[in-house]
Amino acid sequence: MNKKITIVGAGNVGASAAHIAAMQNIGDIVLLDIVKGLAEGKALDIAQSAGVYPFSGRIQGTTDWSDTADSDIVIITSGLARKPGMNRDDLLAKNTEIVKSVTEQIVRTSPRAFLIVVCNPLDAMVYAAAAVSKFEKNRVMGMAGALDSARFAGFIADELGVSIGDVRGVLMGGHGDDMVPLPRYTSVAGIPLTELLAKLIERTRKGGIEIVNLLNTSAYYAPAAGAVRMAQAILRNEKAVISCCVWCDKQYQVGGSFVGVPAVLGAGGVEKIIELNLTTEEQKAFALSVAHVRELVEKVKAML
Ligand code: 2OP
Repeated sequence: MNKKITIVGAGNVGASAAHIAAMQNIGDIVLLDIVKGLAEGKALDIAQSAGVYPFSGRIQGTTDWSDTADSDIVIITSGLARKPGMNRDDLLAKNTEIVKSVTEQIVRTSPRAFLIVVCNPLDAMVYAAAAVSKFEKNRVMGMAGALDSARFAGFIADELGVSIGDVRGVLMGGHGDDMVPLPRYTSVAGIPLTELLAKLIERTRKGGIEIVNLLNTSAYYAPAAGAVRMAQAILRNEKAVISCCVWCDKQYQVGGSFVGVPAVLGAGGVEKIIELNLTTEEQKAFALSVAHVRELVEKVKAML
């Protein structure tokens, strides 16, 4: 039997994720939205694209949570996106409400699912989904590092005139301007890069708002690709190392918080956290980013 992936929210990120997941043949997809017709229409459109570029999974659009029952993975994309002039933290109040109500439905319909959260402010929304679902920590994660690493790799590839596929960018920390790109662990075809990177690091940190300013809304193709990549690693038990927002306790001396680190994703969800050796400076930058995530989580706690 095919694996079942529910994508909550048929907006830009959700619909793009549905399309990519279908093209990657990772299973049957249910796209859900509260706006009548939106998920149904987009699912139908995506399904018909298989007549041109074939895929085998089924895709269904719905407003009815019962259609999502017993999903293996649920990707939560619903929530407000940024407009120019906003930062991700400005979305906290509204998106906490949305993530809370969506998570309650998931607990009711798919109590054994893995959760991949994509809405912002990302790390705090992962906390909200984990607190409301009470799922084991290995089953709850957030997509940010896959996107931020891809952005970092894209900027490096452009600058050097090399294939993006040859660049491996490593980042840690919360999904915000204080995220911590790690030049020492970033390489092109295995060759480490430590110079040249300062301006690309800054562009990566501000990579989300660069797109918001161009589009008047948040990015979606690359975030959607990041979320599907994580789902695929879990469904295919790949044991792939992907930077993402996961529960860290003793690792990196975090002391209990969801935050971005390189993790091994496989059939057990978050199977392991990769602990890189950090310099004092890198550890300090990471701790600052964790402190920022904690401040947001305190606000979320007051709302749950
Ligand atoms: C971004 O960085 C949507 O937060 C996401 O583009």
